[in-house]
Amino acid sequence: MAPPSHNVANIVVPTIVLPSLILSLPLILVSKILKRAKRSLFGEKIAGKVVLITGASSGIGEHLAYEYARRGARLALVARREDRLREVANKARTLGSPDVITIQADISKSEDCKRLIDEAVNHFGQLNHLVNNAGIMQSGELLEDCTQISDYERTMEVNFWGNVRTTHHAIPHLRKSKGRIIAISSVMSWYPIPKSTFYSASKAAVSAFFETLRVELGSDIGITIVTPGVVDSEMTSSVDEAELGDTPVMPTVLCAKSIVNSACRGDNYLTEPFWMKMFYLVHLICPEFTHWSNHRKVAAAKKTSHKKTN
Ligand SMILES: NC(=O)c1ccc[n+]([C@@H]2O[C@H](COP(=O)([O-])OP(=O)(O)OC[C@H]3O[C@@H](n4cnc5c(N)ncnc54)[C@H](OP(=O)(O)O)[C@@H]3O)[C@@H](O)[C@H]2O)c1
Repeated sequence: MAPPSHNVANIVVPTIVLPSLILSLPLILVSKILKRAKRSLFGEKIAGKVVLITGASSGIGEHLAYEYARRGARLALVARREDRLREVANKARTLGSPDVITIQADISKSEDCKRLIDEAVNHFGQLNHLVNNAGIMQSGELLEDCTQISDYERTMEVNFWGNVRTTHHAIPHLRKSKGRIIAISSVMSWYPIPKSTFYSASKAAVSAFFETLRVELGSDIGITIVTPGVVDSEMTSSVDEAELGDTPVMPTVLCAKSIVNSACRGDNYLTEPFWMKMFYLVHLICPEFTHWSNHRKVAAAKKTSHKKTN
């Protein structure tokens, strides 16, 4: 049984907080809109500044490189496929980046995370934006069908620990430049989709890590947590079309433009496309609906496979 102080708080806190929130909601919304308009007008000028992007050899990271290049940023591009990185670097130069270096690194390796930051800072002498974008999605299966759970440890190694290690090494340099971290999480960090337990958990860990880091760093280093929906990339092209269903796929170039706009505005959060944020509200207020509608897909898939085997 809860101690009496909690019994009192269980009644008093919601009685005060809920009406206060409802009453102040219009004021909060207006102030948010005004602040965003101000940030849009006086956003950060990124020309000549140094941006390091992990996972820049394809997909969202590749297009982030092009978007930063169009704005004149100097770039450090990181991934494992060096040939692809070189192609991206060449295109970034033609789009307007004054200086681009490529760094071959595997962010699941601790020593590579340190080296990639050292190489970038040794070359440019500073770091302004760190874009933690590299990530993997291992082919999804239901947890019950999974025979070797340890196969999925790599998802956490790359998506979570890779970001953590890289960020840890970058913080002293970002503090000097009063820079910004852009963390690419996913709507799946809060929206439960079947067959994505490990990926979703890795992205929820990313969001929670950077949300907490924001509190530790204060205003010295900005953090933009990005939760993309479904974006055209190598990752989504490897997903079964039936799994994607009717979800519209966002063009990579639009997503990248929106992320760079958001980072330069100094936003704390970005969900792209915006309408997907509505599912956050639905899930927050009525998780039963999300659970029911998404579980139906599993039940339907099980029925079909059962019919096939009989
Ligand atoms: N596409 C979507 O719908 C979507 C939605 C939400 C979130 N996201 C997130 O967006 C980010 C980018 O994904 P994407 O969709 O653009 O997929 P992608 O085209 O597959 O790009 C992933 C990038 O990460 C790099 N990478 C993977 N493992 C790495 C490692 N161990 N070390 C260094 N680099 C590594 C890959 O390069 P190499 O293979 O050359 O190393 C590649 O450049 C990911 O974090 C993903 O989770 C994507």
